[in-house]
Amino acid sequence: MTTQNLILITGGTGKTGRRIVQRLQQQNIPVRIGSRSANPPFDWENEATWTPALKDVLTAYIAYQPDIAIPGAVDTIQKFVDKAVASGVQRLVLLSGRGEPEAQLCETIVAKSGVAWTVVSASFFAQNFSEGFVLESIQSGEVVLPTTTMAEPFIDVDDIADVATAALIEDGHSGKIYEVTGPRLLTFKEAVEEISRAVGRQIQYVSVPVEAYTQGAKDVGVPDAIVWLMEYLFTTVMDGRNAYLGDGVQQALGRKARDFSEYVQQVAQTGIWNNS
Ligand SMILES: NC(=O)c1ccc[n+]([C@@H]2O[C@H](COP(=O)([O-])OP(=O)(O)OC[C@H]3O[C@@H](n4cnc5c(N)ncnc54)[C@H](OP(=O)(O)O)[C@@H]3O)[C@@H](O)[C@H]2O)c1
Repeated sequence: MTTQNLILITGGTGKTGRRIVQRLQQQNIPVRIGSRSANPPFDWENEATWTPALKDVLTAYIAYQPDIAIPGAVDTIQKFVDKAVASGVQRLVLLSGRGEPEAQLCETIVAKSGVAWTVVSASFFAQNFSEGFVLESIQSGEVVLPTTTMAEPFIDVDDIADVATAALIEDGHSGKIYEVTGPRLLTFKEAVEEISRAVGRQIQYVSVPVEAYTQGAKDVGVPDAIVWLMEYLFTTVMDGRNAYLGDGVQQALGRKARDFSEYVQQVAQTGIWNNS
């Protein structure tokens, strides 16, 4: 494999990263996956792993784990960006979260890095229902989530991958903050009802006070950072600030974002929501 234009994809086996890697490999662009299971391994919590992962890399996709909004992310992103630029990286594409002040601090770090940069600031992923924390509950037939009546324009991760890939390899995306969302606002209840109709099976939607939800998560051993994140998402981030559509997909790609219904039909056909 040539190292020319080598692109590091952090989270390269995850929801967004895996799809970006596929797109780049289809175009024969050399890619290095940045994850704990990759070779060389890359771990956000172990700085010693960053230098080998960055060797010969000119472009990097940053998808921080477990979430860009968690306490400590800002320091880590600053250190990583400094190290990446010192190591020769010339272009950075950051996956960010809409309406999150901590994420915006990370966006500023990338914007001040001195190299070409693009931010992809995403709404709640549709794939959280099929590849993330909501999957098991859909399979079990009962989705329990903290109470919220807020609507969210769920974004299809394939659209994020298209936007991020363009920003990684095309000219014309530098200095842009693409706010990527789906084209329709839906409440979580409406989203689950849409999935229920598509799979032809009753999926109960139960909303509980956020305190009860987080206590339940703690009781079954969910890590503290994730419990904090759930509370943050369903209180701060879903206080109404994100109940509007962004046009990042249109801006970056010149086409509309995929609707949630298209995502639901596609996933329903795979049968993944039927395992109970
Ligand atoms: N989910 C949403 O709705 C949403 C919305 C907006 C923004 N975001 C942002 O999206 C990012 C997550 O992206 P994603 O959903 O594509 O990722 P994901 O599916 O959660 O990806 C997991 C990936 O990260 C790697 N990973 C896990 N822990 C790691 C660690 N300590 N060090 C290095 N790699 C690690 C995993 O590989 P290994 O197991 O091999 O390490 C895997 O490649 C977060 O920064 C979040 O803030 C999410």
